[in-house]
Amino acid sequence: MMKFPKDFLWGAATSAYQVEGNNKNSDWWEWESSSGKERSAEACRHYQFYEQDFDLAKGLNHNAHRLSIEWSRIEPEKGKFSESELGHYLDVITSLKKRGIEPLVTLHHFTNPLWLSRSGGWASRRAIAAFLRYCNFIVPALAKHVRYWFTINEPNVYVYHAYILGVWPPQKKSYFKAKAAEGNLLRAHIKAYRLIYKIYRRSKLAVPNVSFAHNTMSFVPCTRRLKDRLAARLRDNWYNFGPLNKVIKRKALDFIGINYYSRQLVDLKKWGIRNLAVDTCDKNHHPVKKNSLGWDIYPQGLYELLLKLRKYNLPVIISENGICTQDDNLRWEYIHEHLKHIHMAMNKGAEVRGYLYWSLLDNFEWDKGFGPRFGLIHVDYDSYRRTVKESARKLAEVSKTGYLAV
Ligand code: GAL
Repeated sequence: MMKFPKDFLWGAATSAYQVEGNNKNSDWWEWESSSGKERSAEACRHYQFYEQDFDLAKGLNHNAHRLSIEWSRIEPEKGKFSESELGHYLDVITSLKKRGIEPLVTLHHFTNPLWLSRSGGWASRRAIAAFLRYCNFIVPALAKHVRYWFTINEPNVYVYHAYILGVWPPQKKSYFKAKAAEGNLLRAHIKAYRLIYKIYRRSKLAVPNVSFAHNTMSFVPCTRRLKDRLAARLRDNWYNFGPLNKVIKRKALDFIGINYYSRQLVDLKKWGIRNLAVDTCDKNHHPVKKNSLGWDIYPQGLYELLLKLRKYNLPVIISENGICTQDDNLRWEYIHEHLKHIHMAMNKGAEVRGYLYWSLLDNFEWDKGFGPRFGLIHVDYDSYRRTVKESARKLAEVSKTGYLAV
């Protein structure tokens, strides 16, 4: 048996665009229509059904829930802020609190108001000031109810998909734009961090906990060859630790929000800057189980990462960890193994304060549409009926008792 601390945060995460439906003023909405990809449309109708969804979460013994605010609802036109949408999110957050569920709120989760993206998006420095204006509208209104903030979700993933791979809006493949966007997102985090603190001080509220949600990966050298080991080490430093170092140096992180899913096998085809950054192994000679998108399941990578994060002396919250699969036994195996490795790391001094499974509901998985099912709760996209999966019930036992049978 492994015992987790009494005050451990147990729950799941969602993002507004992926579950709410009808986010018509967002850059993603427009992109879906022009790209010919599956449309998010009504998504899970969580905008209407959030009370029922939180009842289900409560029934599963969740004491925490990570959600995001859709900026394009709050500020559908530049400078025009919507009081009624603000009221909606206030209702969402107070309905979590009524159920004794701690809200962890993300301010930016991949989507942008269309007007922002039309004026250059995150590749332009103007995005920072715009983001701060939005924060200055939303944070004071919610501050009384919120102790945990994530400014921005996964700057690295956003930049990679939008500006390097060019498969997400604004679909601009440009190294220079990628660099600019990455810098602007981290600067926006640092400035928003300070702004949130100012707002809490002004309102005489207890000090908040502010982070960004950081996507991490385990980089495993495919062979013992020096070049593979070196490339893996470089990617680990650059991808996993680079953004954290920048923000921690500026004293703008209260805890580390870790999103962890998978590993990458590193196989350097030849020496070269690009090869060092991107070459992966395609030989499948280290087979492991995979999720339905083909991502390797590799819980020991999370263990190794958590040990390395000890050097920062900051608490860690697992802000996302999950699997898309039709095989619910595999989902439980995934959760179980990751919790086991988290606990092992805690025994070695990692300060993990919570685990938020991705995701509460099956939902709109960006350019992959509704195919991949990550949810603890099944969503029928015709009737919008929710069905709790067996894996969710097993996790509910762990969150209720704090014990994980191993
Ligand atoms: C994360 C992202 C989520 C979700 C998940 C599964 O990178 O924050 O929005 O889509 O991956 O792919």
